[in-house]
Amino acid sequence: MPATVVVGAQWGDEGTGKIANLLAQDADVVVRYQGGNNAGHTIVIGDETFALSLIPSGVIYPNVTPVIGNGCVVDPAVLLKEMDMLRSRGIDPAKLKLSTNAHLIMPYHRKLDAVRERFLGKQQIGTTKRGIGPAYLDKFGRVGIRVQDLYDPGIFRDKLEAVVKETNKVLVKIYNQLAFDPEEIAAEYLGFAKALERHVDDTALFVWQAIRDGQNVIFEGAQGVLLDIDHGTYPFVTSSNPTSGGALTGVGVGPHDIDRVLGLTKAYVSRVGTGPFPTELSDDIGETMVRVGGEYGTVTGRRRRCGWLDTVALRYAVRVGGITELAIMKLDVLSQFPTVRIGNAYESEGVTYGEFPRQQGVLYHCTPLYEDLEGWSVDISEVRSWSDLPTAAQDYVQRVEDLAGVPIRLVSVGPQRAATFEKPS
Ligand code: GDP
Ligand code: IMO
Ligand code: MG
Repeated sequence: MPATVVVGAQWGDEGTGKIANLLAQDADVVVRYQGGNNAGHTIVIGDETFALSLIPSGVIYPNVTPVIGNGCVVDPAVLLKEMDMLRSRGIDPAKLKLSTNAHLIMPYHRKLDAVRERFLGKQQIGTTKRGIGPAYLDKFGRVGIRVQDLYDPGIFRDKLEAVVKETNKVLVKIYNQLAFDPEEIAAEYLGFAKALERHVDDTALFVWQAIRDGQNVIFEGAQGVLLDIDHGTYPFVTSSNPTSGGALTGVGVGPHDIDRVLGLTKAYVSRVGTGPFPTELSDDIGETMVRVGGEYGTVTGRRRRCGWLDTVALRYAVRVGGITELAIMKLDVLSQFPTVRIGNAYESEGVTYGEFPRQQGVLYHCTPLYEDLEGWSVDISEVRSWSDLPTAAQDYVQRVEDLAGVPIRLVSVGPQRAATFEKPS
């Protein structure tokens, strides 16, 4: 049975939730390996829409054990709320496993996220303000608090006191904010311990064993390769590694445990928050992409910036993300346009870039070079097979595959699971 990583190949919101959920139908385990409730994964099943931020998209199937891996940062109040939401809609998250080594998002992380953004002014990242960056900062600064600390109240209080003492100085003296009371936080968080206890586990061992037992395991990424802290458009990135390398450290398995890495690309590009975006469109075409694609953030409701597909960035994401095959998402949105464009190089100061430039400044100033393909101008949202796709749409997908350098295996033409079909090789 395969172990598959599903990860966005752009700046997030490529449809990871939909595809992870689709693959989960035949899976045994679906594990999130990084990020936290900055993610917003939408799943559409019949008339029902679920927006999940922390719990893996496979949770809706009784056959799946959903797992939150050690690489994630977890806001326990949000997790418990998400579990309640699922229960209220008839889904029992009883099988959920939470890594004992995952780090906790604390109230001061959320506060720091908001005030640091304000202080950055024009340099701000446009974070989701969920405390993600500050939680990872504490993790790597070795003052983070882990899920397992909830079950050793003495250690929990000691660690909390030390970190709050320092953090309060920063909050009060630098950011002019009120101090946090460690006792209040301890009371709140130790209160979460009981509700979460039955879910807490050695998830690295669990997933390792599942793979050894030949089970079908899906590693569900959040965000996308271009938001990766190492390989993305730093500093306009998230604070973790969505790339498939992150799947290994974020769960606790080795490279040979992964059989394939399915990257997701929209048929165009979207981005929330600030940062460079060479093919961004600020004209009617971009506006149509936003409107028809429903490009508003699942978590923050922010309007997503949109533009033509950029295959320089896609080739880069395939390479650094270790992507072995692709799914092309939201192809239906391009039905709006009589001509569809594919960015295949950048031009800046007389230099043509076929590879993602090593100097990030180029991304701001370059002019994308496009090839124009004839559009198909008919609604394809009801198409359910490759052979029924208009030839112009087939040509477009084939051209993207040729430029990306790895096969496109899946085509998505609508939010529902059924609106997905295979592309023959
Ligand atoms: P994720 O964060 O990668 O899981 O993606 P989001 O859920 O944030 O955003 C993707 C949006 O596109 C969701 O509203 C999906 O329901 C929707 N969606 C997914 N695939 C398709 C598709 O092929 N066509 C259209 N029109 N919408 C899609
Ligand atoms: P999914 O999983 C799109 C963006 C934020 C901001 C940057 C840093 O739904 O694809 P953070 O709060 O993580 O410190 O913000 O990353 N961002 C996302 N953009 N989809 C997401 O998740 C995102 N998660 C974070 O907008 O630019
Ligand atoms: Mg999303």
